[in-house]
Amino acid sequence: MFGMIPCEKGPIPGEYQCIERIRLEMSRKTRLIVDGKTYELPLVTGTEGEKAIDISSLRSQSGLITLDVGFANTGSCKSSITYMDGEKGILRYRGIPIEQLAERSTFVETAYLLINGELPTRKQLNNFSVLLNDHSLVHEDMRQFFENFPRGAHPMGILSSMVNALRAFYPEIPEISEEEEINVTVTRLLSKVRTMAAMSYKISRGHKVVYPRHDLTYAANFLNMMFDSPVRPYRIEEEYVDALNVFWILHADHEQNCSTAAVRLVGSARVNLYAAISAGICALWGPLHGGANQAVIEMLMVIEENGGDVTPFIERAKDKKDPFRLMGFGHRVYKTYDPRAKIMKKVCDRLLKKMKISDPLLDIARKLEEVALKDSYFKDHDLYPNVDFYTGIVLRALGIPLNMFTVMFAIGRLPGWISQWKESMDDPAWRLQRPRQIYVGNGKRDYVPIDKRR
Ligand code: ACO
Repeated sequence: MFGMIPCEKGPIPGEYQCIERIRLEMSRKTRLIVDGKTYELPLVTGTEGEKAIDISSLRSQSGLITLDVGFANTGSCKSSITYMDGEKGILRYRGIPIEQLAERSTFVETAYLLINGELPTRKQLNNFSVLLNDHSLVHEDMRQFFENFPRGAHPMGILSSMVNALRAFYPEIPEISEEEEINVTVTRLLSKVRTMAAMSYKISRGHKVVYPRHDLTYAANFLNMMFDSPVRPYRIEEEYVDALNVFWILHADHEQNCSTAAVRLVGSARVNLYAAISAGICALWGPLHGGANQAVIEMLMVIEENGGDVTPFIERAKDKKDPFRLMGFGHRVYKTYDPRAKIMKKVCDRLLKKMKISDPLLDIARKLEEVALKDSYFKDHDLYPNVDFYTGIVLRALGIPLNMFTVMFAIGRLPGWISQWKESMDDPAWRLQRPRQIYVGNGKRDYVPIDKRR
């Protein structure tokens, strides 16, 4: 179990016979035997039967810690928000399959579901939409901030700074209860992040900022703020709004991924919600996480520039001496086709067909997928397209510029970050998150004065 001492399967089913010093018996309770001493550890079972050994008392009982670089085998919390099964390709928010939400819900309704635990009634949804509308404007003084970022600054850097700055513009209100304060902060974030994202795009282009409109839905409003102009009014296409809703729904939560873990970890120090979300945005920026949707398009463009043949790129991805990886392929948890990628692929095909858009990158992506899925390296490594593989093509069809792709992901992930943060704050088992380590550096040695160093 702990990977330090080799074990062989024992004669009794479910038991492990030890060759050396460590033995772990799992039945109704878990017994860990180290150097002849037995430690009892509770076995925790989730709703879907997934099992975990609760090691929280391990160190106090035995002096041992567990080592799990990258946390691939470590559960950091119990959560009732999102269920995923990476082997079967299942994703559910609050129990509802992602396929049903993508087909029938809107992003605002899904955000409500994630944050509050239940689908809203019509009245609750209306009230929520009204609140989002009421909070959609951004403090006018924040525009000076925006305008002073260098023109070439990456929008993810701008967004994380601006979200952190929201606390300065919207300080705590001592007159209201903590619960009311959280509700206001949550609504502000959901509404203003969308406005700020569009604002940063307009300012980066030197264009006039477009204000949110009360008569438009969340997604339509965003597209309008991005693309409306005094000289070319933006025509809101229903197909674009639908595709954007699905895109955001698919990104709304994904249990303990890198950015959500960052939000929970930073939040565990009891910082304000704006600061915790800002940390999540920074984590999402990385190309191995949210930055992958941009990296996929960049990779497809390079393939196109090189004549469109995918074979050399497949070969490079397999070459261990080459750091190149097939972007949009592989996932820490999914060892089968990412269910979100399946939905996104359909949305992509439908949108491009309906809007009569032809994108050569889609043909390259299809070819790449076809070749990779037949290749033994990708099969043996369980590497399948992830959500980012087709999202970039959808975003391009909507007119979203490449450097805004990860910002689009961030807007979508916001309800997930918020609900995970809320859950962790309300968790009776809450603790400051502070992992341990195994020290492998120098043993004790003496300080050498500078003139004696070589
Ligand atoms: N192309 C080629 N080989 C890959 C790829 C890939 N995209 N992904 C993983 N591998 C290989 C690794 O080289 C490694 O091979 P080895 O065991 O022979 O040495 C093996 O598969 C396992 O890879 P790890 O990096 O250990 O897997 P991990 O679970 O840590 O990484 C990750 C998952 C980061 C997503 C990885 O698959 C990757 O880099 N993919 C490309 C980037 C990407 O698409 N990211 C988006 C993820 S989804 C999201 O964040 C929304």
